[in-house]
Amino acid sequence: MAIKRPKGTEDHLPAGSPKLTLDVSAQAHAWVVETARRVLERAGAQRIDTPLFEEADLVKRGVGGSTDIVRKEMFTVYYFGDHGGYILRPEGTASIVRAFLQNGLKQLPSPLKLWTHGPMFRAERQQRGRLRQFHQVDYEVLGGSDALVDAEAIALMVGVVRELGLTGVRVKLGSIGDPEDREAYNLYLRELFTPHLERLSDDSRDRLTRNPMRILDSKSEDDQTLIAQLNVKPMLDFLGEDARANFDAVQGYLRDWGVEFDVDPSIVRGLDYYRRTAWELHHEGVGAKSALGGGGRYDGLAEQIGAQAVPGIGWAFGVERLLIALEAEGRALPAQAGPVVYVAALEDSLVPEAAAAALAARTTVRAEFAYRALKPGNAFRDAERRGALFAGLIGSDEATARSVQLKNLRSAEQFTVLLSDLPAFLHEQEQAHLTLLENA
Ligand code: HAM
Repeated sequence: MAIKRPKGTEDHLPAGSPKLTLDVSAQAHAWVVETARRVLERAGAQRIDTPLFEEADLVKRGVGGSTDIVRKEMFTVYYFGDHGGYILRPEGTASIVRAFLQNGLKQLPSPLKLWTHGPMFRAERQQRGRLRQFHQVDYEVLGGSDALVDAEAIALMVGVVRELGLTGVRVKLGSIGDPEDREAYNLYLRELFTPHLERLSDDSRDRLTRNPMRILDSKSEDDQTLIAQLNVKPMLDFLGEDARANFDAVQGYLRDWGVEFDVDPSIVRGLDYYRRTAWELHHEGVGAKSALGGGGRYDGLAEQIGAQAVPGIGWAFGVERLLIALEAEGRALPAQAGPVVYVAALEDSLVPEAAAAALAARTTVRAEFAYRALKPGNAFRDAERRGALFAGLIGSDEATARSVQLKNLRSAEQFTVLLSDLPAFLHEQEQAHLTLLENA
């Protein structure tokens, strides 16, 4: 039987593939990442890349032992003679904080803004927008604890969404307080739910001991019915003075800057390292239960995995989910530009000349060539199918003169150009064409 790709993974396909949708288009993925890069670099974020696999302990201690990620979704990496203590990274934050600590990045100007993108791995049950290998654009700020840093991080996330042209995005903002606030809240939840143990799902019963707050995020309908009946107070009611002041300040900045948000007392987030500001971005096209992206402050994480305390905050988008949202808004695939020139030989013996002309042209522009001799009519047709600006023909006269016959396929203008002048000529023509398009 033919071998297929593993469950929960996707191939990212080239333009023109049958049944191409935005979320599996390699080009659309690259376009999202490039758009995010532009926005993030304008804000001073620097690119960082970390390994795809890490010590399992990094994730256990960083992301947290009570999370679904650590308990059910980790991919373990084995290789010959190894102890099996590695995992494929399920997210980027713990790795970036590890890299920050391990490489002495504290010496760089603070707060330090970093960004990355790439595949993440979680053994989840597959559905649209929920994959085992998915991709994130991830942004982290290390070394700043002011509410201004939080607000800027949220504004930047909204900036990426805007630059992508997405309109139907809602920011749901919450705070999960300082550790002592969370402890008080967890105590309250334990007392509230314990008399109703038998009505809780197995997962939630487990969460009651490990991390009661996560019950509120349960996917079980029965759990959600119970939560509604018990009239559970939100975490926001348990914020201490400092966390409350911080939360108010974050909101104040966002309002000043015209960044729209809704305070959502139900924000829980699925990772243990969060404290204080936490938020998610949602979009109808992705569905209410799945976020487009999310983030929060994690001032305790560095100490959890290293030796020093470093405040931090950040967020990540799911690239597939951004693409699903873009598709839901009717966004078409960004078109890949065709070659500036498509060169064909008119005789078999001249095919290498056509190839050499294209290779020379590639020093300045996109250039392709025909691998066998073509009649002029077929050469023009093939060039048009590829979206070329020029078709180039090389017959025996051109070969003798070391030139190429060019036809602009939009204007039908013809030129004879010496091979030595070809790169400069085509570059100039492409620039003129782009100017024409811009002014159209
Ligand atoms: P997260 O909420 O676990 O946060 O994931 C962020 C985003 O990644 C989600 O909102 C979603 O768009 C996408 N995502 C997560 N799991 C899947 C999946 N199985 N399939 C497709 N997309 C998925 C984090 O990962 C944190 N590290 C974010 C962060 C950065 N917090 C602070 N800094």
